[in-house]
Amino acid sequence: MENITIISKGKVTAIVGNLVEAVSDGPLIQNGICFFQQNGKEIMGEVIKTEGSKAFAQVFETTRGFKTGMDVNFSGSMLEVHLGPGMLTRNYDGLQNDLDKMKGVFLEPGARTYPLDEESVWQFTPLVKTGDPVSAGDWLGEVPEYHIHHKIMVPFKFEGDYDVSWIAKSGEYKLTDTIARLTDSAGQEKAVSMVQTWPVKMPIPGYREKLRPGKLFETGVRVIDTMNPILEGGTGFIPGPFGSGKTVLQHALAKQAAAEVVIIAACGERANEVVEIFTEFPHLDDPRTGRKLVERTVIIANTSNMPVAAREASVYTAMTIAEYYRSMGLRTLLLADSTSRWAQALREMSNRMEELPGPDAFPMDLSAIIASYYSRAGYALLNNGKSGSITFIGTVSPAGGNLLEPVTEATKKVARCFFALSQNRADSKRYPAIDPIDSYSKYLEYDEYITFAAREIGENWINKIDFVKNYLIRGQEVNEQINILGDDGVPVAYHEVFWKAELIDFAILQQDAFDAIDSNTPLKRQKYMLEKVIEVVETEFGFDDFNEVRDYFKKIINLFKQMNYSEFKSDKFEGYERQLQEMILEKTAVS
Ligand SMILES: Nc1ncnc2c1ncn2[C@@H]1O[C@H](COP(=O)(O)OP(=O)(O)OP(=O)(O)O)[C@@H](O)[C@H]1O
Ligand SMILES: [Mg+2]
Repeated sequence: MENITIISKGKVTAIVGNLVEAVSDGPLIQNGICFFQQNGKEIMGEVIKTEGSKAFAQVFETTRGFKTGMDVNFSGSMLEVHLGPGMLTRNYDGLQNDLDKMKGVFLEPGARTYPLDEESVWQFTPLVKTGDPVSAGDWLGEVPEYHIHHKIMVPFKFEGDYDVSWIAKSGEYKLTDTIARLTDSAGQEKAVSMVQTWPVKMPIPGYREKLRPGKLFETGVRVIDTMNPILEGGTGFIPGPFGSGKTVLQHALAKQAAAEVVIIAACGERANEVVEIFTEFPHLDDPRTGRKLVERTVIIANTSNMPVAAREASVYTAMTIAEYYRSMGLRTLLLADSTSRWAQALREMSNRMEELPGPDAFPMDLSAIIASYYSRAGYALLNNGKSGSITFIGTVSPAGGNLLEPVTEATKKVARCFFALSQNRADSKRYPAIDPIDSYSKYLEYDEYITFAAREIGENWINKIDFVKNYLIRGQEVNEQINILGDDGVPVAYHEVFWKAELIDFAILQQDAFDAIDSNTPLKRQKYMLEKVIEVVETEFGFDDFNEVRDYFKKIINLFKQMNYSEFKSDKFEGYERQLQEMILEKTAVS
C-alpha cells in the first residue's frame, strides 16, 4: 500500500492462532497496521492492544509458519480503504483486495491488489468554481458511473476551511489526475484527485447533522414494509436460528430494496453461499431500473474459511464504503450477514489476550462496539442541504435460537427494527419466517413516520396495521384454546377468528422468495391486498360448524395466494378477485 510510513520495528514474541504478540523498539498506535516479514512476504495485521512496548496484533491472514523472533514493521496508519469511482460491481475482501483480480475467493498470503482501476478514465464535470469556499465532504465535481453521479468530494481528511484555487475543466481524466487544488486558511495549497483514503474504524465526517428517519424504505417484503416498516436511514436486524432463512431474506433485500447503492458484507458465511451471490448477481435485473443489479452493488466477502480477524475488517470496510456513498446524497443499503460471526471473532481475540470476559465470554465492551457500529448508519443532512442515507440491516445467528444471548441483546438495544425469524415458522415452511408477534418496528411510533404514512400510503394506514397485528394475537389465543378444549369444545366463532388470522398469515405474511411475482410486492399492491384481507376479516359470516369454516377459508386462502402469484391487476388477478367476491357474497347473502 502506498503512503504508509513505518514508525517502529519489532520482533514477534508469541503466536496464539491469529493473535500475535510482539515487542516494538519505538512508538505504537492503537489500531495501527503492521507487517510481519515472512519469507519476503508482508503479512498484514492490526495492533488491537498495547502494553508499553508490547503490541497485540490480530493478523488478517493465516499465521502458519510464523515464528518467535520474526521481524515486524509497525506503521503509523490505521486500516484504510480507497474511495473513488469504480467500486460498483466489485467484489472485495475485508482488506478491499479485489477478489476478481485474485485467483478466486482464496488469496495467496501477503497478496494485495489495488482496489480501483488506476488507469481508468472518467468524464469529469466540475460543480464548483475558483474562489468557492469548501470543506471536507463538499462536492467538487462529478463523474457518471452506471446510474449514479459519482461525486468527487473534498477529501474527508482535509480539516478546516479551504478555497478552490483551481478546478479542472469538464473532460476526461484519469482516476489519479489532479482535478482540483484547494488552499487552506494558512495559504497552503493541496492537490485533490478522484481517489481518497479513509480509516475504516472512524466514521466519515463531512455532513451537517443526522436527522431522524421518517420515510419508508421499500423492500417489497410485505411482512417488513406493511407490518414492521424500516425507514430510509433506519436500522434493523434479523436474528434467527440456523437455516431459518436469514440469508435468503438478506438476498431478497439486496435484490429488491429501493436503494441506489447496496453494500453487502458477507461476514464469515459459507464460501458456497458467497460464490452464489457472485455468480447469481451479475445476471439479475434491477426491478426498478431494468439495469443489472450488480451495477448498484459492492460485495465485501469474507468467508468462514478465512481468518477470523478479517471479519472485523470486512464489516468496517463495508460501513465506510456505505458512508462514502451516503456523502454523495445517495440512498444506500448496507447488509451484513452475519454480525454474530464478527462478534465471535471479537470474542476469540479477547479470549486470546486473556481479557476479563463478559457474558458468554464475549468482550466486556461488546454492547458498546455494536452500538457504535449501528450508530454509523442513519439519515444525514449534508453540508449542501441535500441528504443521503444508510439503511442498515444485519443478521444475528443466536446459538440454539436463544434470543437472550449477548449479541442479540446488544443489537436489540440499538436496532430499531427486530425481524425475529422463528424456528416454528421455518419448520412449517411459513416463509419468510419473521415472527409476526415477536417482531416489531419502533418506527411505527415515530411521528415522522405516522405523518408520512398518512400522507403517502393512506389516512388510516397505521390503524390498519394495529388492527391486523392485534388480530394475529387473537388468532394465536383462540388457537391455544382450540388446542386445549378441542374443536368441538369451543364456539364456532373461535374457529372463524383462527381462520381469519390464518388468512392474514397466508396472504400477507407469507411470501415466496423464489417466485418472480410474489417475491417482490410494491407498496401500492401491499396496500391493496391488506385492505382486501381486512375486508374479509371484518365480514360477519355466521358459520354453522367448524368444518364449514375450515373448508370455506381454505378456498379463500387459496384464491388470495393465486392473486399473489399473478401480475397485479392482470386478467388472471381480476379473475381470482371476482371468484373471491362471489364466494363472500354467496355466504353473506345466505346468512
Ligand atoms: N423466503 C423463503 N422462501 C422459500 N424458502 C426459503 C425462504 N427462506 C428460507 N428458505 C429455505 O430455507 C433454507 C435456509 O435458508 P437460509 O440459508 O437463508 O438460512 P440461514 O438462516 O441463513 O441459515 P444459517 O444460520 O445456516 O446461515 C433455504 O435454502 C430455503 O430452502
Ligand atoms: Mg445464512
